[in-house]
Amino acid sequence: MASLNLLRWSVARDTSTAAKDPKTSVNKSAAIGNTVACKIGFVLRQEIFLLTIAKINRFWQALMSTNMENEKGNVPHENEKARLLVQRGYDKIADTYLNWTVTKSTPRLAYLEKVLLKMHTPLNADVLELGCGAGVPGTELLSSRCGKVIANDISRAQIELAKSHVRRNNVDFSQEDMTKLEFEPASFDAVVAFYSIIHLPRGEQAILFPKIYSWLRPGGYLLCNLGVSDVPASMAEDWLGSQMYWSSFDVKTNLKLIRDAGFAINEHEVLEDDEDGTLVPFLWILAEKNM
Ligand SMILES: C[S@@+](CC[C@H](N)C(=O)[O-])C[C@H]1O[C@@H](n2cnc3c(N)ncnc32)[C@H](O)[C@@H]1O
Repeated sequence: MASLNLLRWSVARDTSTAAKDPKTSVNKSAAIGNTVACKIGFVLRQEIFLLTIAKINRFWQALMSTNMENEKGNVPHENEKARLLVQRGYDKIADTYLNWTVTKSTPRLAYLEKVLLKMHTPLNADVLELGCGAGVPGTELLSSRCGKVIANDISRAQIELAKSHVRRNNVDFSQEDMTKLEFEPASFDAVVAFYSIIHLPRGEQAILFPKIYSWLRPGGYLLCNLGVSDVPASMAEDWLGSQMYWSSFDVKTNLKLIRDAGFAINEHEVLEDDEDGTLVPFLWILAEKNM
Protein backbone atom coordinates (compact mmCIF):
# COMPACT_ATOMS: atom_id res chain seq x y z
CA MET A 1 0.00 0.00 0.00
CA ALA A 2 2.77 2.41 0.94
CA SER A 3 4.44 1.97 -2.45
CA LEU A 4 1.14 2.47 -4.33
CA ASN A 5 0.64 5.79 -2.52
CA LEU A 6 4.22 6.70 -3.42
CA LEU A 7 3.40 6.03 -7.12
CA ARG A 8 0.23 8.20 -6.98
CA TRP A 9 2.14 11.02 -5.30
CA SER A 10 5.01 10.92 -7.87
CA VAL A 11 2.66 11.01 -10.91
CA ALA A 12 0.65 13.91 -9.47
CA ARG A 13 3.82 15.89 -8.69
CA ASP A 14 5.31 15.44 -12.25
CA THR A 15 2.01 16.36 -13.96
CA SER A 16 1.66 19.55 -11.97
CA THR A 17 5.28 20.60 -12.80
CA ALA A 18 4.66 20.22 -16.63
CA ALA A 19 1.48 22.29 -16.51
CA LYS A 20 3.46 25.30 -15.18
CA ASP A 21 5.95 25.45 -18.19
CA PRO A 22 4.03 25.62 -21.59
CA LYS A 23 7.21 26.37 -23.82
CA THR A 24 8.72 22.98 -23.32
CA SER A 25 5.49 21.08 -22.99
CA VAL A 26 6.32 18.44 -25.75
CA ASN A 27 9.77 17.59 -24.41
CA LYS A 28 8.49 17.87 -20.93
CA SER A 29 5.61 15.51 -21.75
CA ALA A 30 8.05 12.94 -23.15
CA ALA A 31 10.29 13.33 -20.13
CA ILE A 32 7.35 13.02 -17.81
CA GLY A 33 6.24 9.91 -19.72
CA ASN A 34 9.69 8.36 -19.27
CA THR A 35 9.85 9.31 -15.63
CA VAL A 36 6.40 7.91 -14.94
CA ALA A 37 7.23 4.68 -16.81
CA CYS A 38 10.46 4.35 -14.83
CA LYS A 39 8.68 4.97 -11.60
CA ILE A 40 5.92 2.52 -12.45
CA GLY A 41 8.57 -0.08 -13.28
CA PHE A 42 10.44 0.67 -10.08
CA VAL A 43 7.33 0.56 -7.94
CA LEU A 44 6.09 -2.64 -9.60
CA ARG A 45 9.45 -4.31 -8.98
CA GLN A 46 9.24 -3.11 -5.40
CA GLU A 47 5.70 -4.52 -5.10
CA ILE A 48 6.78 -7.89 -6.51
CA PHE A 49 9.74 -7.94 -4.15
CA LEU A 50 7.54 -7.16 -1.15
CA LEU A 51 4.94 -9.76 -2.18
CA THR A 52 7.66 -12.39 -2.56
CA ILE A 53 9.03 -11.58 0.88
CA ALA A 54 5.50 -11.81 2.32
CA LYS A 55 4.97 -15.17 0.62
CA ILE A 56 8.27 -16.56 1.94
CA ASN A 57 7.34 -15.29 5.38
CA ARG A 58 3.89 -16.94 5.27
CA PHE A 59 5.43 -20.24 4.08
CA TRP A 60 8.03 -20.13 6.87
CA GLN A 61 5.37 -19.36 9.51
CA ALA A 62 3.26 -22.28 8.25
CA LEU A 63 6.25 -24.60 8.38
CA MET A 64 7.16 -23.52 11.90
CA SER A 65 3.60 -23.89 13.17
CA THR A 66 3.41 -27.41 11.65
CA ASN A 67 6.55 -28.41 13.53
CA MET A 68 5.19 -26.92 16.74
CA GLU A 69 1.98 -28.90 16.36
CA ASN A 70 3.87 -32.13 15.77
CA GLU A 71 5.95 -31.63 18.88
CA LYS A 72 3.26 -30.30 21.16
CA GLY A 73 0.03 -31.77 19.93
CA ASN A 74 -0.40 -34.17 17.05
CA VAL A 75 2.17 -36.84 17.77
CA PRO A 76 1.40 -37.33 21.48
CA HIS A 77 -2.28 -37.28 20.60
CA GLU A 78 -1.83 -40.09 18.05
CA ASN A 79 0.36 -42.06 20.47
CA GLU A 80 -2.25 -41.69 23.20
CA LYS A 81 -4.96 -43.00 20.87
CA ALA A 82 -2.79 -46.00 19.99
CA ARG A 83 -2.11 -46.70 23.66
CA LEU A 84 -5.80 -46.59 24.61
CA LEU A 85 -6.70 -48.82 21.70
CA VAL A 86 -4.16 -51.46 22.78
CA GLN A 87 -5.11 -51.24 26.45
CA ARG A 88 -8.86 -51.54 25.77
CA GLY A 89 -8.15 -54.26 23.22
CA TYR A 90 -6.32 -56.50 25.69
CA ASP A 91 -8.86 -55.74 28.42
CA LYS A 92 -11.45 -57.13 26.03
CA ILE A 93 -9.58 -60.12 24.61
CA ALA A 94 -7.35 -61.19 27.52
CA ASP A 95 -8.99 -64.63 27.78
CA THR A 96 -9.22 -65.11 24.02
CA TYR A 97 -5.54 -64.19 23.60
CA LEU A 98 -4.53 -66.65 26.32
CA ASN A 99 -6.53 -69.51 24.78
CA TRP A 100 -5.10 -68.65 21.38
CA THR A 101 -1.45 -68.60 22.50
CA VAL A 102 -1.31 -71.55 24.87
CA THR A 103 -1.86 -73.89 21.94
CA LYS A 104 1.03 -72.41 19.94
CA SER A 105 4.71 -73.08 20.22
CA THR A 106 6.91 -69.99 20.33
CA PRO A 107 10.58 -69.50 21.18
CA ARG A 108 9.77 -67.69 24.48
CA LEU A 109 10.76 -70.51 26.85
CA ALA A 110 13.89 -71.47 24.91
CA TYR A 111 15.10 -67.85 25.02
CA LEU A 112 14.26 -67.51 28.72
CA GLU A 113 16.39 -70.60 29.41
CA LYS A 114 19.29 -68.93 27.58
CA VAL A 115 19.06 -65.83 29.78
CA LEU A 116 18.73 -67.88 32.97
CA LEU A 117 21.81 -69.85 31.97
CA LYS A 118 23.80 -66.68 31.25
CA MET A 119 22.86 -65.08 34.57
CA HIS A 120 24.80 -67.75 36.52
CA THR A 121 22.98 -67.04 39.81
CA PRO A 122 19.41 -66.28 38.66
CA LEU A 123 18.07 -66.94 42.16
CA ASN A 124 19.65 -63.63 43.17
CA ALA A 125 18.48 -61.82 40.08
CA ASP A 126 15.99 -58.97 39.76
CA VAL A 127 13.97 -59.17 36.57
CA LEU A 128 11.52 -56.80 34.91
CA GLU A 129 8.98 -58.18 32.45
CA LEU A 130 7.34 -55.61 30.16
CA GLY A 131 3.92 -56.58 28.83
CA CYS A 132 3.67 -59.78 30.86
CA GLY A 133 0.17 -60.59 29.57
CA ALA A 134 -1.51 -63.43 31.44
CA GLY A 135 1.76 -64.37 33.15
CA VAL A 136 2.22 -67.61 31.26
CA PRO A 137 4.62 -68.89 30.33
CA GLY A 138 7.02 -65.94 30.97
CA THR A 139 6.28 -64.59 34.45
CA GLU A 140 5.61 -68.07 35.80
CA LEU A 141 9.01 -69.39 34.71
CA LEU A 142 10.88 -66.24 35.76
CA SER A 143 9.30 -66.18 39.22
CA SER A 144 10.14 -69.85 39.78
CA ARG A 145 13.82 -69.34 38.92
CA CYS A 146 14.69 -65.73 39.80
CA GLY A 147 14.98 -63.74 43.02
CA LYS A 148 12.47 -60.99 42.33
CA VAL A 149 10.21 -60.23 39.36
CA ILE A 150 8.29 -57.08 38.47
CA ALA A 151 5.55 -58.08 36.02
CA ASN A 152 4.24 -55.06 34.13
CA ASP A 153 1.29 -54.74 31.78
CA ILE A 154 -0.91 -51.85 30.66
CA SER A 155 -4.09 -53.97 30.68
CA ARG A 156 -5.96 -54.49 33.93
CA ALA A 157 -7.52 -57.72 32.60
CA GLN A 158 -4.09 -59.11 31.71
CA ILE A 159 -2.66 -58.20 35.12
CA GLU A 160 -5.63 -59.90 36.83
CA LEU A 161 -5.02 -63.05 34.78
CA ALA A 162 -1.31 -62.93 35.57
CA LYS A 163 -2.05 -62.60 39.30
CA SER A 164 -4.31 -65.64 39.12
CA HIS A 165 -1.63 -67.70 37.32
CA VAL A 166 1.45 -66.63 39.27
CA ARG A 167 0.95 -66.75 43.00
CA ARG A 168 4.52 -66.51 44.23
CA ASN A 169 5.33 -63.74 46.65
CA ASN A 170 8.52 -62.77 44.81
CA VAL A 171 6.41 -61.10 42.08
CA ASP A 172 5.18 -57.50 42.09
CA PHE A 173 2.52 -56.70 39.53
CA SER A 174 2.45 -53.26 37.96
CA GLN A 175 -0.46 -52.14 35.81
CA GLU A 176 1.15 -49.26 33.94
CA ASP A 177 2.14 -48.11 30.49
CA MET A 178 5.71 -49.37 30.08
CA THR A 179 6.76 -46.04 28.55
CA LYS A 180 5.83 -44.30 31.80
CA LEU A 181 7.79 -46.61 34.11
CA GLU A 182 10.63 -45.14 36.13
CA PHE A 183 13.34 -47.06 37.97
CA GLU A 184 16.65 -46.20 39.54
CA PRO A 185 19.64 -46.87 37.28
CA ALA A 186 21.07 -50.40 37.64
CA SER A 187 17.92 -51.90 39.22
CA PHE A 188 17.69 -55.15 37.21
CA ASP A 189 19.74 -58.09 35.99
CA ALA A 190 17.39 -58.74 33.07
CA VAL A 191 14.53 -57.06 31.23
CA VAL A 192 12.22 -59.30 29.22
CA ALA A 193 9.54 -58.20 26.72
CA PHE A 194 7.71 -60.76 24.57
CA TYR A 195 5.36 -59.49 21.82
CA SER A 196 4.76 -56.26 23.77
CA ILE A 197 7.15 -53.54 22.53
CA ILE A 198 5.59 -54.08 19.08
CA HIS A 199 2.42 -52.40 20.42
CA LEU A 200 4.20 -49.09 21.10
CA PRO A 201 4.34 -46.41 18.40
CA ARG A 202 7.84 -46.98 17.07
CA GLY A 203 9.11 -43.55 18.13
CA GLU A 204 8.41 -44.69 21.69
CA GLN A 205 10.19 -48.00 21.04
CA ALA A 206 13.31 -46.04 20.12
CA ILE A 207 13.07 -44.00 23.35
CA LEU A 208 12.52 -47.13 25.48
CA PHE A 209 15.81 -48.92 24.67
CA PRO A 210 18.11 -46.35 26.33
CA LYS A 211 15.80 -46.38 29.37
CA ILE A 212 16.03 -50.18 29.62
CA TYR A 213 19.79 -49.88 29.27
CA SER A 214 19.95 -47.50 32.24
CA TRP A 215 17.69 -49.75 34.37
CA LEU A 216 20.04 -52.72 33.85
CA ARG A 217 23.09 -53.46 35.94
CA PRO A 218 26.39 -53.86 34.06
CA GLY A 219 26.34 -57.35 32.54
CA GLY A 220 22.50 -57.34 32.58
CA TYR A 221 20.41 -58.71 29.68
CA LEU A 222 17.64 -57.46 27.43
CA LEU A 223 15.54 -60.23 25.86
CA CYS A 224 12.78 -59.13 23.51
CA ASN A 225 11.14 -59.69 20.19
CA LEU A 226 10.28 -56.93 17.72
CA GLY A 227 8.81 -56.52 14.27
CA VAL A 228 10.89 -56.94 11.12
CA SER A 229 9.38 -54.41 8.71
CA ASP A 230 9.28 -50.66 8.23
CA VAL A 231 5.68 -50.12 9.37
CA PRO A 232 5.02 -46.75 11.06
CA ALA A 233 1.56 -47.85 12.18
CA SER A 234 -0.66 -50.82 11.47
CA MET A 235 -4.26 -51.21 12.63
CA ALA A 236 -6.53 -54.24 12.62
CA GLU A 237 -10.27 -53.73 12.95
CA ASP A 238 -10.77 -57.23 14.30
CA TRP A 239 -7.83 -59.11 15.80
CA LEU A 240 -9.07 -61.92 18.03
CA GLY A 241 -12.25 -59.86 18.56
CA SER A 242 -10.83 -56.38 19.09
CA GLN A 243 -9.23 -53.48 17.31
CA MET A 244 -5.45 -53.67 17.63
CA TYR A 245 -2.40 -51.54 16.85
CA TRP A 246 1.24 -52.40 16.06
CA SER A 247 4.28 -50.49 14.82
CA SER A 248 7.77 -51.51 13.80
CA PHE A 249 11.13 -50.70 12.27
CA ASP A 250 12.99 -52.97 9.90
CA VAL A 251 15.58 -55.41 11.29
CA LYS A 252 18.59 -53.21 10.52
CA THR A 253 17.06 -50.18 12.25
CA ASN A 254 16.00 -52.23 15.29
CA LEU A 255 19.52 -53.59 15.73
CA LYS A 256 21.02 -50.12 15.29
CA LEU A 257 18.66 -48.63 17.90
CA ILE A 258 19.62 -51.30 20.42
CA ARG A 259 23.33 -50.89 19.71
CA ASP A 260 22.99 -47.09 19.85
CA ALA A 261 21.41 -47.46 23.30
CA GLY A 262 24.72 -49.02 24.39
CA PHE A 263 23.97 -52.75 24.18
CA ALA A 264 26.15 -55.47 22.69
CA ILE A 265 23.93 -57.87 20.77
CA ASN A 266 24.65 -61.47 21.76
CA GLU A 267 22.12 -63.12 19.49
CA HIS A 268 19.53 -62.08 16.98
CA GLU A 269 17.45 -64.01 14.49
CA VAL A 270 14.19 -63.74 12.61
CA LEU A 271 11.80 -66.57 13.45
CA GLU A 272 8.31 -67.10 12.08
CA ASP A 273 5.27 -67.77 14.25
CA ASP A 274 2.50 -69.79 12.68
CA GLU A 275 -0.61 -67.69 13.31
CA ASP A 276 -3.43 -69.93 12.12
CA GLY A 277 -1.68 -70.79 8.87
CA THR A 278 -0.05 -67.39 8.32
CA LEU A 279 3.68 -67.21 9.02
CA VAL A 280 4.46 -64.01 10.92
CA PRO A 281 8.14 -63.08 11.35
CA PHE A 282 9.58 -61.59 14.54
CA LEU A 283 13.09 -60.39 15.32
CA TRP A 284 14.37 -62.08 18.49
CA ILE A 285 17.13 -60.24 20.30
CA LEU A 286 19.30 -61.14 23.26
CA ALA A 287 21.45 -58.14 24.14
CA GLU A 288 23.84 -57.39 26.99
CA LYS A 289 24.85 -54.25 28.86
CA ASN A 290 28.63 -54.19 28.92
CA MET A 291 30.40 -54.58 32.26
C1 LIG B 1 0.76 -60.01 22.59
S1 LIG B 1 0.62 -59.76 24.31
C2 LIG B 1 2.00 -60.67 24.94
C3 LIG B 1 1.82 -61.10 26.35
C4 LIG B 1 2.97 -61.94 26.89
N1 LIG B 1 4.21 -61.21 26.92
C5 LIG B 1 3.15 -63.17 26.06
O1 LIG B 1 4.23 -63.40 25.57
O2 LIG B 1 2.17 -63.92 25.92
C6 LIG B 1 1.14 -58.11 24.49
C7 LIG B 1 0.99 -57.57 25.88
O3 LIG B 1 1.64 -56.31 25.98
C8 LIG B 1 0.83 -55.45 26.74
N2 LIG B 1 1.13 -54.06 26.37
C9 LIG B 1 0.90 -53.45 25.20
N3 LIG B 1 1.27 -52.16 25.25
C10 LIG B 1 1.76 -51.96 26.50
C11 LIG B 1 2.32 -50.83 27.16
N4 LIG B 1 2.41 -49.64 26.56
N5 LIG B 1 2.73 -50.99 28.43
C12 LIG B 1 2.63 -52.18 29.07
N6 LIG B 1 2.10 -53.28 28.48
C13 LIG B 1 1.68 -53.17 27.21
C14 LIG B 1 -0.58 -55.85 26.38
O4 LIG B 1 -1.54 -55.41 27.31
C15 LIG B 1 -0.47 -57.34 26.28
O5 LIG B 1 -0.74 -57.99 27.51
